[in-house]
Amino acid sequence: MNAATTTIPVIAIDGPSASGKGTIAQAVAKNLGFHYLDSGSLYRLVALAAAKQATRLDDEAALARHARELQVIFDGGEIFLSGQKVTDAIRSEDCGIGASRVAALPAVRRALLARQQAFRQAPGLVAEGRDMGTVVFPDAMLKVFLTASAEVRAERRHKQLKEKGIDANMRTLLRELHERDQRDSARSAAPLQMAVDARELDSSGLGIDEIVRQVLDWYRQTAARVAGSER
Ligand code: DC
Repeated sequence: MNAATTTIPVIAIDGPSASGKGTIAQAVAKNLGFHYLDSGSLYRLVALAAAKQATRLDDEAALARHARELQVIFDGGEIFLSGQKVTDAIRSEDCGIGASRVAALPAVRRALLARQQAFRQAPGLVAEGRDMGTVVFPDAMLKVFLTASAEVRAERRHKQLKEKGIDANMRTLLRELHERDQRDSARSAAPLQMAVDARELDSSGLGIDEIVRQVLDWYRQTAARVAGSER
């Protein structure tokens, strides 16, 4: 990162699986005309590359190599890995579980750091994941920690899967969410935790528009304060 890019505003949105980060981050980015980073997709891509090349999910050096060498193109809403469209493939539960495992490996996280920071382009970036506010963009202008109860998150995941024609069992989904949260929070490398300067937003009883409005209000207040202190 060079000195010039550090003035580009970043909104970091972190939180557990299925807390609505993707939907909210994309809507906020669209409203402000900012770029958007779905950092989880990078961990999912590493898991997919590993599956394609039969790399074991505990081979840290080989996984870090996949992370460094990923040939990825983000094109609108589509994602291409080595020229192949993988937009839907990386959303599978298997890829999610694989992503959570490779994400626990420090060498993989290091290999993806600069790639994520490169998304910081004018006029601004909305970045979502687990460590956007703590590790990747510690100087983000606004940090939001988006939560929702496990039950609400399981229901959202259930609905998403149903829309894709996948029949899932609520009890199994709830157990998998707990296991994923546990793995993402308990790991020693960049665990899922709220940044000390983040604002917590519980989305359980709120609609998408209300959450987006809240994030935009916080951003505008913060941006006005920063502009005021620079005058
Ligand atoms: O947000 P997601 O479900 O697409 O993320 C997939 C996995 O990647 C998730 O289990 C945790 C990991 N991840 C991470 O460790 N750090 C990030 N910034 C984003 C995702």
